[in-house]
Amino acid sequence: MDKSIISIFYFSGTGNTWWVSERLSEELNKLGFRASAYSIEQVTDKETAALIQKSSIIGLGFPIYGSDAPRIFHDFISRLPYLEKEKPIVGFVTQMAWSGDGMNFLEKELSEKGYRIRWASEFIMPNNIAVPIFPLPYVSDYNKFIPQLEKRRQQISDLCVKIANDEPYRQNSGRLAAASAWIQRGPFRLVHDWGRKFWSVDEGACNSCNICASLCPVGNIEMQHGLPVYSDQCVYCMRCFNYCSAYAIHYMGMKNTRLEKTRPFQGPTADFRPEMLIKK
Ligand SMILES: Cc1cc2nc3c(=O)[nH]c(=O)nc-3n(C[C@H](O)[C@H](O)[C@H](O)COP(=O)(O)O)c2cc1C
Repeated sequence: MDKSIISIFYFSGTGNTWWVSERLSEELNKLGFRASAYSIEQVTDKETAALIQKSSIIGLGFPIYGSDAPRIFHDFISRLPYLEKEKPIVGFVTQMAWSGDGMNFLEKELSEKGYRIRWASEFIMPNNIAVPIFPLPYVSDYNKFIPQLEKRRQQISDLCVKIANDEPYRQNSGRLAAASAWIQRGPFRLVHDWGRKFWSVDEGACNSCNICASLCPVGNIEMQHGLPVYSDQCVYCMRCFNYCSAYAIHYMGMKNTRLEKTRPFQGPTADFRPEMLIKK
């Protein structure tokens, strides 16, 4: 296949999707492509359209939230330019365990605009949810992630070989996968907007550092009299909760008691900082 330009657009709340996007881009470059990864928080619609125009393959990546894409990524897809000539997509999701059909549920919406999913992959990464309402196991020790990341490197390299050979590969694109995904996607969509109202701050613990407001990808948090005030646009990226320097953010009025023993997930490698992904 023509060793051509690949532009990868991704959203990442807490670093997993950033890590996969960067590794994917590196591997593709080793194979002779000219690949670059872009956080969707850092490119304007005009820049996105120009990059798409000059690319022969488009990458799209996001973290799975309830078998769905984050709202900010849905919005990004809805703003993608219509293509006169179809272009292939390499799409991927990161998830802690299971999503059903990965990113394949976006097929109809993408194909209507001229984007054809040719490769779709799912990457199991560390869990980034530490809210007490979902008592899921989580770890934040970087050393413990190493074996998992090694497996993902191999998975990324296998995917890149398929792309280089122009061999289509779509993980979990069948009807059963699509139907099973709805078991989770349906209820998640129903409670999505309602669940946004449960963020709050422990006023006694908050040190007014402003990290939560500065990292929010959708400007949903405003500092008022030194305290964060939430609006109704949360996309559940987990940045405010996971990076709060005082662990003062609560969900459903609850503090996560496990945070007394360990910090929440803050990216798969020590070199990740969420500031790297936001508007410059
Ligand atoms: C609101 C929310 C919902 C999630 N739902 C799922 C899910 O349905 N299945 C799953 O395997 N992981 C789920 N996860 C875990 C994330 O998909 C996973 O940790 C992801 O790699 C985070 O990527 P990021 O660090 O790039 O933001 C969810 C995370 C959040 C915050």
